[in-house]
Amino acid sequence: MRIDVVTIFPDYLAPLELSLIGRAAAAGPLQLQIHDLRAWTKDPHRTVDDSPVGGGAGMVMKPDVWGRALDDVLASGPSDPSPGTGECSGREPGGVVDGTTHPGARTVLAIPTPSGIPLTQRTVEDLATADHLVIACGRYEGIDARVAEHYGDRVETLEFSLGDYVLNGGEVAALALVEAVVRLLPGVVGNPESLEEESHGAAGLLEYPVYTRPVEWRGLAVPEVLLGGHHARIARWRRDRALERTAARRPDLLQSLGAEQVVRGDREVLNRLGWGLGPAGVARMRVRRGIPDDAARLAPLAAATFPLAAPPGLDEEALAAFIAENLSVERFEDYLADGARYVVMVGEVEGSGELAGYTLSVLPLSVGEPPYAADVEAIVQERPTAELSKIYVRPEFHSSGLARMLMAQTLAALAEARVEGEPLAVVWLGTNARNRRAQKFYARCGYERRGGRRFWVGGREMSDAVWARPPLESAPPAMAD
Ligand code: ADE
Repeated sequence: MRIDVVTIFPDYLAPLELSLIGRAAAAGPLQLQIHDLRAWTKDPHRTVDDSPVGGGAGMVMKPDVWGRALDDVLASGPSDPSPGTGECSGREPGGVVDGTTHPGARTVLAIPTPSGIPLTQRTVEDLATADHLVIACGRYEGIDARVAEHYGDRVETLEFSLGDYVLNGGEVAALALVEAVVRLLPGVVGNPESLEEESHGAAGLLEYPVYTRPVEWRGLAVPEVLLGGHHARIARWRRDRALERTAARRPDLLQSLGAEQVVRGDREVLNRLGWGLGPAGVARMRVRRGIPDDAARLAPLAAATFPLAAPPGLDEEALAAFIAENLSVERFEDYLADGARYVVMVGEVEGSGELAGYTLSVLPLSVGEPPYAADVEAIVQERPTAELSKIYVRPEFHSSGLARMLMAQTLAALAEARVEGEPLAVVWLGTNARNRRAQKFYARCGYERRGGRRFWVGGREMSDAVWARPPLESAPPAMAD
């Protein structure tokens, strides 16, 4: 690859002679030339700038000088025979760029500017496949806009920014771009494996923290797991730290992770951090207490999800009657208004306008109030006891982790509830005994199966499995659904 940098401060680019880049330029796959823009001026003062047309502060770099410089440098093509770091060619003006001068070669003109598109590792990887990269470093208020416009029609042009802050000129950005691109050229980085796991790599996550010896330094120890030599455990630990770091520092990166980038074992960490895997990839999920305004969104959610787990054999009419009686907007308004009797928790997924899941729990009004059904009363004898009456998640968020977040938050809310000043001793629930997925879920959520109960819906006798657990042990339950 050939890289030309045009600047009014060639010495600024001297660091490129050092280290890997210098070595690549001396012997490797890189031809690097630094050019002094003033070589293309024609006046005795070697003027490169003028005041802004239309007024305003500062100076703007002249298009005619840049035009002569870039015509020349671009025309020299990817395989100029005179490579060398720090050389200023100062060639005479002349070459015309028409995009056909070097057929088959890919040339890119990169212009650093705070108003450019943010430079990313993806762009850098793409630029590393070019044959010829020309970097035009502006100073002052920047380069006359017609320069980018003119060359944009003739050669692949990239106006890029290093970040949302303003530098005095493009040289630092050029240094950064050259280093980022050149280290990707074949043979430049000694151990190509070191490119694989770094931040902004294919995983889409920031890199995990790294350590070396001594294992104890200023009272800080290298994490134990890294010393054990257990490769799978180390890989999992690193992945967990990468997920945590990315969630804390770059939630935007986590948000753009696709389902295919989420691997086994990620979901637990994501859920703990308040994220889950929805149909559109990784999304932030939040569970909170229901508020009166939620009734209008809860009723359609409940009506849509209840039939999916309804007892088998329940006919359409009975189902509709149950929904109308128990899951209407008015009923939810009642549930939400009566905090002594009901606890409603709702699950939201960022970016999806609707509620994605909910729970409805029923509290006793006195310590001794038994479960409403006699067969449950017989097998759940601790008091006070509450019923987790509903826990539903839209099907597209099944396996997202939202159900376990809802369960954890519901149990936490129930742990805070007081009945005549007393905390709940137990939470029970009934679930269709033939729904194996549900039984597995409750078992993983720390519930214990107490037995069964019979009940009537729409004139039919149904049977449920009854599960119970204390509302909260010391830590929220580790769950998987
Ligand atoms: N020139 C001045 N500020 C810059 C930035 N943030 N990125 C690239 N070039 C610049």
